[in-house]
Amino acid sequence: MTENRKVRSIYCEAVGSKMNGETVTVAGWVHRRRDHGGVIFVDLRDTSGLLQLVFNPEDMDLFQQAEKIRNEFVISVTGIVRDRPEGTVNSDMPTGAIEILASDMSVLNRSLTPPFHHDENANEDTRLKYRYLDLRRSEMADKLKIRHSIIRSLRNFLDQKQFIEIETPILTKATPEGARDYLVPSRTQKGDFFALPQSPQLFKQLIMMSGFDKYYQVARCFRDEDLRADRQPEFTQLDIEMSFVDQEEVRDVMEAMVKNLFEEVLNYQFESEFEKITYRDAMHRYGSDRPHMGIDLELQDVSDLMTDVEFKVFSGPANASDSRVACLKLARASDITRKQIDNYTAFVGEYGAKGLAYIKVQDIGQGPQGLQSPILKFLDESTVNALIERLNPQDGDVIFFGADKSNIVNTSLGALRVKLAEDFNLIKEGWFPVWVVDFPMFHWDSKEKRWVSEHHPFTSPINSSHDALIENPSDALSRGYDLVLNGSEIGGGSIRIHSQEMQQTVFEVLGIDPEEANEKFGFFLEALKYGCPPHGGIAFGIDRIVMLMTGSTSIREVIAFPKTQTASCLLTGAPSQAGKDQLKELGISTKAQK
Ligand code: AMO
Ligand code: AMP
Repeated sequence: MTENRKVRSIYCEAVGSKMNGETVTVAGWVHRRRDHGGVIFVDLRDTSGLLQLVFNPEDMDLFQQAEKIRNEFVISVTGIVRDRPEGTVNSDMPTGAIEILASDMSVLNRSLTPPFHHDENANEDTRLKYRYLDLRRSEMADKLKIRHSIIRSLRNFLDQKQFIEIETPILTKATPEGARDYLVPSRTQKGDFFALPQSPQLFKQLIMMSGFDKYYQVARCFRDEDLRADRQPEFTQLDIEMSFVDQEEVRDVMEAMVKNLFEEVLNYQFESEFEKITYRDAMHRYGSDRPHMGIDLELQDVSDLMTDVEFKVFSGPANASDSRVACLKLARASDITRKQIDNYTAFVGEYGAKGLAYIKVQDIGQGPQGLQSPILKFLDESTVNALIERLNPQDGDVIFFGADKSNIVNTSLGALRVKLAEDFNLIKEGWFPVWVVDFPMFHWDSKEKRWVSEHHPFTSPINSSHDALIENPSDALSRGYDLVLNGSEIGGGSIRIHSQEMQQTVFEVLGIDPEEANEKFGFFLEALKYGCPPHGGIAFGIDRIVMLMTGSTSIREVIAFPKTQTASCLLTGAPSQAGKDQLKELGISTKAQK
């Protein structure tokens, strides 16, 4: 190796044909090494991409060094840029027309044989344990680069609209967003705990009370909840709050931000305004408060046709105000097998449905005789005719029914709608955003036997008085809104309560007595007394947005160092036991021993 040689003069992918004959120095990892009858080829990888290096046996010293390098060794190589010989051009590689004829090399570091190679489909546990190796794969690195572009676009947009970024504490008091808190013990006040924020909700409202008109933060949030493909215990929100605004203004600015994001990062233009649907309609038509609008299937209500039928499974729910009979018509699925129907029945069973009645349409020309179903014997001909008229089925269609409490019918048929769309390729290509509005303020938690907030307790009701809220919590609608994209809730927010009296009322409905309210949120209730402006905001799940925009199937694919389904980190081994001395200092003793 020559002394004083620069370790790198240029990135791999910046080397181009125009540089033919120039001497360059590149540095990176050995992606692949091939011995080709006396010539050694190395694909060198750096952050920009790959470049082919050639080692000729004429330079024996250098050649012998090159024989010793292995995958993932870190090297710096100087050489001359030249065009590849005819017939050896690789059009799959941006630098596939050129190569570097090496004249000098230094091995900057060696590497053990990695536990998996770039091209392999390693299992996720191995990838998470060796995440730094996993992130060397261009597929993963590209996702993190897109994540960066997404956050940059969001920041720039908000910056131009005069929002300012303010950081809020991580060691704080509980913020109720519906999950369990992560607690951090205090050493200086033994027996006391900080809670990690489930969101910066209360702080951003305090920031409005402080007079900052428009706030945002790329904020880390912590929630100890059951994890799914789109949930992490620690995730990132784009958190936003604005003063002196109404719902429409917040939604308009946010819609413009999302449109700008898709244009900048994916070069995609939304043609029109985002759709808007009420919570009630979303549940009624799609069985979900996060409907995928790229699926044409809709739930159709047939309760009114079933009130007098002999089939109790249908007539029972058809006559009860909290229940419904609804169906989904799957077009041209006549080849559906008995086994598939059994599987769908088991699938809806997971959502509490007691069965999945169905009708197969064989020859609609024959009217009711052209249908095949185990439930037809329970339905009289006029009901069947009315069904045919309502649903207008074609030959080959299969109609699935749900009859139960409305929430069970909605969640089970809502999930079946998406499952059928996946299985029968009915999901349209493209982006389908929808605002969901007019949520209920509260829902009844039958396990805990109390009202809980549909959003969070700081969400304002639509035109409700103290008495109306206390007497009829189930009727109250909130000024909350969610943004749903392709069936995923990417953001949620609301206009807030800005009067102390209304805030107390909501706590009252939630069964939080004044003493408890004071203990948990006293600082906040007090702040509401000192001239709080009307305000509202929203928070977007950045990880979910990146997941959708990169076409990833799991949120873990777009987070550099994610946790597993059981909320542990396979790389560091966190969570782990604390030392005895540490615990003593905190005044804590633990029961759980490994
Ligand atoms: P919310 O609880 O709806 O609202 O959260 C806002 C958005 O954050 C994302 N999100 C998550 N992403 C990954 N993993 C999780 N565990 C997770 N939980 C939520 C979702 C969701 O839409 N303070 C309010 C916002 C407000 O009212 O302004 C809040 O946190 O995409
Ligand atoms: P059974 O009389 O229980 O055999 O049910 C007849 C058909 O109705 C079967 O196809 C069941 O899957 C279906 N079924 C039973 N309960 C329900 C329900 N609550 N909703 C929809 N279909 C049901």
